[in-house]
Amino acid sequence: MLKTYLTLDVWNELKDRKTRNGVGLYDCIRSGIENTDSKIGVYAGDAESYAVFAALFAPVIAECHPGYREGGQQPSDMDAKHFRPGNPDPDGNSIVSVRIRVARNICGYRLRPTATGNEDLEVEQRVKSAAALFSGDLAGTYRPVGDWGASPSHLPDAEDHIFERGDRFQEAAGLNRNWPGGRGVFANKARSFFAWVNEEDQLRLISIQRNADIAAAFARLCEAVETVERVLEFQRSDTYGYLSSCPTNLGTGLRASFHMRLPLSGGSQEFQNVCMQQRLAVRSIFGEQSAMSGNIYDISNKRRLGLSEVECLHEILEGAMKLIDLEKSFAARTTTRAHLN
Ligand code: ARG
Repeated sequence: MLKTYLTLDVWNELKDRKTRNGVGLYDCIRSGIENTDSKIGVYAGDAESYAVFAALFAPVIAECHPGYREGGQQPSDMDAKHFRPGNPDPDGNSIVSVRIRVARNICGYRLRPTATGNEDLEVEQRVKSAAALFSGDLAGTYRPVGDWGASPSHLPDAEDHIFERGDRFQEAAGLNRNWPGGRGVFANKARSFFAWVNEEDQLRLISIQRNADIAAAFARLCEAVETVERVLEFQRSDTYGYLSSCPTNLGTGLRASFHMRLPLSGGSQEFQNVCMQQRLAVRSIFGEQSAMSGNIYDISNKRRLGLSEVECLHEILEGAMKLIDLEKSFAARTTTRAHLN
């Protein structure tokens, strides 16, 4: 997208501009310059980058969030009562787990690509005090990344939801600065809720359900967001909603994903058509930049901007149900063929 939208005219318009924090064009495009295989290739250095470098960001944002129209008000709906779906996978065959996360950044700081080590430490302290408010199901402990190697006994099972030093895209964006200072993960006791501190965004709040119960995952996430909002104010704009360092996460900052077992239909042309029509992203379950393997797929909502959180969930839910129907139709075809033999 950087190659497409950084035309000579846009370059000339933007090349000498700076935000009030001193963020320049190069801070926003370095990741794409150094990684020409990037899908997007841009990161915002601070909130103001989205306005100062709008000639580049606006078309990128429009392409990241299909259907988004510039200028509307970004809605927000994190009221768990507004999301009461039925069970999308009553047979329990297809949906292995659900994960919903939101990205957030605290007012008064730069975004992660240009933040200083001191800002990281301050953010970490503020999140730690906010996390102290988690109670009941959400109560747990915070562990700085720096402690993980030193005390492997603290590292629970392989399912543990931690993050690693950033990949080459994140490295070039400046996100590994001063690693692992100021980074860490809060986990509740049941390991169904996590807060990542200072990964790509200052805060990623993550809710996990090891079954298809997306409503339970959302209710837990809503409670967590409401709790931290008692003491933290998040960067938000009327049109772009919650601000994130990567334009793919603007708006709701919400990525909901199902791990789906699709042994017959997964990867087929029809599978790809459904994902395209339903605006679903397909990733390997081993992470964003890993190769596909096996028959479990990570399916998530592509759009996070231009619709509310509850609407994002309806989008992914409807898509997942279509994929389950497709898998069933593949199974039926297999049986019919078996009968004909
Ligand atoms: N910067 C990478 C690219 O442009 C990743 C973009 C989306 N993913 C993310 N984790 N922000 O391909």
